[in-house]
Amino acid sequence: MTERIVLAYSGGLDTSVAIGWIGEATGAEVIAVAVDVGQGGESLETIRQRALGCGAVEAYVADASDEFANEYCMPTLKANGLYQGHYPLVSAISRPVIVKHLVKAAREFGATTVAHGCTGKGNDQVRFEVGIQTLGPDLKCIAPVRDLALTRDKAIAFAEEKGLPIETTKKNPYSIDQNVWGRAVETGYLEDIWNAPTKDIYDYTATPEFPPAPDEVVISFEAGIPVAIDGVKVTPLQAIKELNRRAGAQGVGRIDVVEDRLVGIKSREIYEAPGAMALITAHKHLEDITVEREQARFKATVGQRWSELVYDGQWFSPLKRSLDAFIEDTQKYVSGDIRMTLHGGQAIVNGRRSDTSLYDFNLATYDTGDTFDQSMARGFIELWGMSAKVASGRDIRVAGK
Ligand code: ARG
Repeated sequence: MTERIVLAYSGGLDTSVAIGWIGEATGAEVIAVAVDVGQGGESLETIRQRALGCGAVEAYVADASDEFANEYCMPTLKANGLYQGHYPLVSAISRPVIVKHLVKAAREFGATTVAHGCTGKGNDQVRFEVGIQTLGPDLKCIAPVRDLALTRDKAIAFAEEKGLPIETTKKNPYSIDQNVWGRAVETGYLEDIWNAPTKDIYDYTATPEFPPAPDEVVISFEAGIPVAIDGVKVTPLQAIKELNRRAGAQGVGRIDVVEDRLVGIKSREIYEAPGAMALITAHKHLEDITVEREQARFKATVGQRWSELVYDGQWFSPLKRSLDAFIEDTQKYVSGDIRMTLHGGQAIVNGRRSDTSLYDFNLATYDTGDTFDQSMARGFIELWGMSAKVASGRDIRVAGK
């Protein structure tokens, strides 16, 4: 029987050419797998037809947008997941859900190998292949750009020679990856890290310098998950989309960073993630009133580690799973409303309320109603500083010798 290979298919030039390229190089039949993670653009049916037109023996399409929002974006929100404190893990969290569907398709169509369109220099090849190794340990991996010398020039020549149903003339100098959680743009003139991004880079956000009138929004959460916006019930996917629209119109969520890739390269990336950044800001502020101090401090460390694991392609790893359990436990009381103003590139919280809040007005107030016994503070400070005081006495004694 002819060997079968499932290919992660985006509908773009490289993966369209990869169908025939893999076929010629390996003699295998190629099954194209397109996964909708809310990236917008063409319909899945259009993409499916193109894959078949490019020589795929089967084309599998999966609408995974709700699955992606519920099982990948929401855990990222609960973790306040920001790699290096900036990047909301847009591409990093989409790879594992694509991997799930690739493995599923491989089983369904009897494939032995999974192919993807990544280069040998980035994080995504790692995320795909580590994911495949974990969910389908018997499956092999192949990356035509990396392993079969499929360069851009060759791709264009191949598409023209074979008359593939794909445009080869549209010259986009950028490499773009996008889904409902955000958008990532790199390469071209952005590789000079002193160059400021030009307007044409952006798609999810309007220029924050000329914002429309301020937009006030109330986001309601239950156990760390957004459940309503301005009192209207929403699913996680709807919440992200609605905030992409409203925060995007105000230019919220533009990020310009040089980040540390897993492969040891520092690279410049422009992100725009209006919905994700508005949600993370609101969620963090709700945690500030509902999560106990020590748990909150420790969670910040856990969230950072969680983000590194996810960035590094360890979504399905045991440590990531254990950290998920910790994070989940912290979200029990993260319920309530956050009011924020979206304006001029910023999402600024100006009100919060929660039935499970730890904020105690009578403890906090400096006015009448104060229930805090200030006499307790003296002794507390004495004991709190004792250990450092004893050490400092020793330091003075030793220095004096
Ligand atoms: N640097 C980001 C990451 O590794 C995004 C990579 C997505 N690719 C792109 N073409 N911008 O998660």
